[in-house]
Amino acid sequence: MASFTITPGRPLRGTVTIPGDKSVTHRAIILTALAEGLSTVSGYCRGEDCLNTMRAFRSLGVRIDETPDCLQVHGKGMWGLSEPFGPIDCGNSGTGIRLMAGLLAGQDFFTVLTGDDSIRRRPMGRVVKPLRTMGAVIAGRKGGELAPLAITGTRLKGIAYASPVASAQIKSSLLFAALYADGVTTLSEPRLSRDHTERMFAYFRIPFQRDGLTLRLDGRPSVRWGGKPVVVPGDLSAAAFFLVGATIVPDSDVTVRTVGINPTRTGLLDVLRAMGAQIDLLNPREEAGEPVADLRVRSAPLRGVQIGPEQIPQTIDEFPILCVAAAVAEGETVISGAEELRVKESDRIATMATELRAMGAQIEERPDGMVIRGLGRPGANGALKGATCTSHGDHRVAMSVAIGALTAGKPTLIQDTACIETSFPGFERTLAGLLTGAEKPL
Ligand code: S3P
Repeated sequence: MASFTITPGRPLRGTVTIPGDKSVTHRAIILTALAEGLSTVSGYCRGEDCLNTMRAFRSLGVRIDETPDCLQVHGKGMWGLSEPFGPIDCGNSGTGIRLMAGLLAGQDFFTVLTGDDSIRRRPMGRVVKPLRTMGAVIAGRKGGELAPLAITGTRLKGIAYASPVASAQIKSSLLFAALYADGVTTLSEPRLSRDHTERMFAYFRIPFQRDGLTLRLDGRPSVRWGGKPVVVPGDLSAAAFFLVGATIVPDSDVTVRTVGINPTRTGLLDVLRAMGAQIDLLNPREEAGEPVADLRVRSAPLRGVQIGPEQIPQTIDEFPILCVAAAVAEGETVISGAEELRVKESDRIATMATELRAMGAQIEERPDGMVIRGLGRPGANGALKGATCTSHGDHRVAMSVAIGALTAGKPTLIQDTACIETSFPGFERTLAGLLTGAEKPL
């Protein structure tokens, strides 16, 4: 089993690039596959999750070539996908399986979607139920609550659906189904979740309307969209580890280049700033409908904060690393309304509490969040202890523990780290570069 050791004692310094945004890459592969003709996708995430989506579309009959700079996707048009020969393996990716479930429900062929042990434990009913209301024919374990999902493509009808959860995976799954449905689909969510699908629909000129938290899409649009170049921004959820690392390790100064700063994703920046972090946004610009900037962060003492339900969607994937920031801050951090964390790649409330406690943090678990009593002293961040930790098969837990370990007095062994490949191939190398000063300074 893969593992690595973090040896603390040095600051993080230099300028780095990080992998392309995982969420945007999934959507880019899907929409370029459905476009008519050739598209390029540059800056895409080469993590296993996205490679699985790429393989899935190859198995659906789409030619995708990987060049050193970009993916070349030979789109087949909205009606051009074909039945795959075997089951589609989505690996660890909740986004991959849920978005494809919506897309495949309205095709005229049969597919099976499956994935690794973690994905086969995660809830699929949240997309299967509304898709069935649209007429989808989907079977799965536990009545369709769990993958594998067997989808007999059929003609769908538009529905009005109010999602009980602010989830971009639910919203996007239903938007892809709605594209193939007869009539109008309206979708609403309790709070705005990441809007990459909507932005990419707009970029490809696929018509839909937004009214506050409600989307409306006329199915089977007559417009056909052509191939286009898509530029994927760097993943803020990958940058997050260095933003927190540079904040909590004294004398650090890190710039992360070309990071996506879509406001539906930047909760981490707001929370860290409220905690006292020093983060500067440099060269703000826009690429393929997504805002990007370079982010510079220098060490700063942190204080605890309250994070409530309204801040959860835009911060959702950053809680593991925020737990690390809170664990070394001065004072208490209270996270509430975050029960969705229990159904991610791992139960992130439980797994982060377990691992950070092993490193000396004081954490109380709650059903919908946690209370973290920071170890800090006034004006400085506290330090965790070196320990033997595990990722629980969750990439973000592995990387968060690695960053926390940088504040310890002794080395930390992190076990089961192969999962980092799902989103951040080269994480260890990038971190080592910042610690040894091998990454070019600004
Ligand atoms: C994602 C949406 C989020 C997020 C996941 C990626 C997406 O999940 O946690 O990592 O790309 O749509 P939910 O939409 O279920 O909250």
